[in-house]
Amino acid sequence: MNSIRDPDLSVTIGNIKLKNPVMVASGTFGFGEEYEDFFDLNQLGAIIPKGISLKPMMGNPPPRIFETEGGIINSIGLQNPGFQDFIKNKLPYYKKIKTHLIINFFGNTQREYIELAKRFDEVPGISGLEMNISCPNVKQGGIVFGSDPKMAYHLVREIRKATKLTLIVKLSPNVTDIALIAKSVEEGGADAISLINTFRAMAVNIHSRKPELGNIIGGLSGPAIKPIALRMVWEVSQRVKIPVIGMGGIMKAEDVIEFILVGASAIQIGTANLINPRTGIEVIHGIKKYLIQNRINRIQKLVGVFKSH
Ligand SMILES: Cc1cc2nc3c(=O)[nH]c(=O)nc-3n(C[C@H](O)[C@H](O)[C@H](O)COP(=O)(O)O)c2cc1C
Repeated sequence: MNSIRDPDLSVTIGNIKLKNPVMVASGTFGFGEEYEDFFDLNQLGAIIPKGISLKPMMGNPPPRIFETEGGIINSIGLQNPGFQDFIKNKLPYYKKIKTHLIINFFGNTQREYIELAKRFDEVPGISGLEMNISCPNVKQGGIVFGSDPKMAYHLVREIRKATKLTLIVKLSPNVTDIALIAKSVEEGGADAISLINTFRAMAVNIHSRKPELGNIIGGLSGPAIKPIALRMVWEVSQRVKIPVIGMGGIMKAEDVIEFILVGASAIQIGTANLINPRTGIEVIHGIKKYLIQNRINRIQKLVGVFKSH
């Protein structure tokens, strides 16, 4: 039973009922296992492991992470063990986890996206898919689909046919009108939209006069991007009817409340996990405290209640 003293934090995304709106963002929480010593992972709303492709990927040359004021630039390049290895060596770990597992995946071609969606559809223990059409630092794939509304629509429509799992589509901020892409993705059949991925960025070493990243260009994340992420979540949530999952620079519970007020039904924590591995659990406690202090018995009552004037 929920009450003012014990507020209900649960939210629903597609067919997934989350015990709270806090998920950990793909690529910033390893495969989960790496974080189990820091807190009870079952407390999270969902775990989203590193993005998976059909075949293993080596990623980009080092250095791959550079710290800037207020954030980091990464050019990991979607390094991952590939579908088969993931199923064999990583998936068994999640059997002992009692929270939702959402798989982040991507392809280099439409065929690869479809093939992966079909394969994951047959794997037990997966609650939903998060389709990445937004990675800024690989040559092919992702972003190509994520920056063209028509391509995004067609790709999502095909993936919709390939899986019965809850389908979340993750958008790139590296576009002129993110709400337009969001609308296309909704029309294609997505159950939810998550945003944002990282901003294309770079850094220069003035002594060597060389780039700080092996790939020259990477993706900026962390507190520096929060105000832009918030604006995008607000714009998108006004345009679509499906749930929006917000992320970008969340460090603390107050940040989460901002995202929820502008329309996010749930949120993801990314870069903050690399700074304080307990951010997830601390944020959950902080949200609860905010609800109690403001005498709100259900978090869902806060979604989109931002007063623009
Ligand atoms: C080191 C690193 C690796 C990432 N890898 C992925 C990935 O594999 N797939 C994906 O969709 N997003 C990936 N992202 C993007 C994050 O999931 C998130 O969208 C972004 O960092 C913004 O949130 P934040 O500012 O809270 O980090 C990665 C981000 C970082 C910092």
